[in-house]
Amino acid sequence: MDFNRVNGLRGEVEVPGDKSISHRSVMFGSIAKGITEIDNFLMGADCLSTIACFRKMGVDIDIKDNGSVIVKGNGLHGLKEPGGMLDTGNSGTTTRLISGILAGQSFTTTLNGDESIQKRPMKRIITPLSMMNANITSIKGNDCAPLKIEPAKLKGISYNSPVASAQVKSAILLAGLYAEGETKVIEPELSRNHTELMLKGFGANVSSVDKTATIYPASELNSQHITVPGDISSAVYFVVAGLITPNSEITIKNVGLNPTRDGIIEVVKNMGGSIEISNEHSTGGEKVGDITVKTSNLKGTTIGGSVIPRLIDELPTMALLACYADGDTNIKDAAELKVKESDRISVMVENLSKMGANVEGTEDGMIIHGPCPLKGATIDPKKDHRIAMTFAIASANASGTTTIIDADCVNISYPTFYEDYKKLMV
Ligand code: S3P
Repeated sequence: MDFNRVNGLRGEVEVPGDKSISHRSVMFGSIAKGITEIDNFLMGADCLSTIACFRKMGVDIDIKDNGSVIVKGNGLHGLKEPGGMLDTGNSGTTTRLISGILAGQSFTTTLNGDESIQKRPMKRIITPLSMMNANITSIKGNDCAPLKIEPAKLKGISYNSPVASAQVKSAILLAGLYAEGETKVIEPELSRNHTELMLKGFGANVSSVDKTATIYPASELNSQHITVPGDISSAVYFVVAGLITPNSEITIKNVGLNPTRDGIIEVVKNMGGSIEISNEHSTGGEKVGDITVKTSNLKGTTIGGSVIPRLIDELPTMALLACYADGDTNIKDAAELKVKESDRISVMVENLSKMGANVEGTEDGMIIHGPCPLKGATIDPKKDHRIAMTFAIASANASGTTTIIDADCVNISYPTFYEDYKKLMV
């Protein structure tokens, strides 16, 4: 798909529902008692993989024409043995969180996903779940999917996680619902806390203090009505496009602003960008608001430490932003980027360099020597949705034509992305 420089980006846009919250609403609704209604559910391929997995385990899940999802929960012990392998597609969240639930079931499951999933590290969940007595193995013995999970009697653990990963934390907490005694996860930095917030809403005995989350076994969860906020990880493309493109002012409505996810606001402010939040309110314990950005003069910054888990999925787009800032931007403490849907350090460095950026990859991030105005190029995002969207908006203020290969990979998290982007063009 081809993109050219634009004369400005102006107007309002509403991004689709949050991916992390959409996944969790179906998972928790499936193991709750009663009917969970989910509004503004993200109909991206990843979240549809989660729906397909739970349908295969006997949960009645109805997708309405208005975009709502109705989950008729089977209760904590009501999932059925699936007839065959569960397919988690491209979704790390589905693969890792569902493993925590499956570890506590009385039937055997096998699960697998696409080529990218089969390369992503699963040892990070196999180790703590095994400490809980789970019977979970990597079928090929390479610590990756496909995984086999057999019945086991789980016990609670106190786990010092070596990574700040909400997927790891959530897998352990979900297994903790089925375990004997208390389960604790202590993180090196606090990762997104949607599991803790939502499970509390479903009636679980879960609490968190600083970087420690604690859960106790449940006898049942109670169904909920959930309104999913817009995804800040999808809003970031318009935030950055508005900041780097002359003659731009964009408002992104109803964006989730959970403090464990709002790192981009802090970074954009540090870089001198014009970013304002309005209409703040909250839904289901999640903070929501509108974000307005305008074309800005930017300066380089350092992005590292505890902010990293708060913007981990937005870092590729922050690297693009840094190309339009005066001075160096140093992204560090972000080695996790290497094990996302693609190796996001090498894929960003390769493609930004093709567009003329002065960028170096490091062991745990990137250094961008700005400003480095960009020129169009042919971009291979390696089927990584977030890289494809980042380079689509990189075209907004780049000379010449930018061509994105496999542009439809955005369906993973934002199926209407290109239409929404085009609507903002003046
Ligand atoms: C997610 C957690 C993050 C994030 C991913 C979604 C979640 O992954 O990158 O897109 O929904 O819990 P990690 O937990 O591996 O950091």
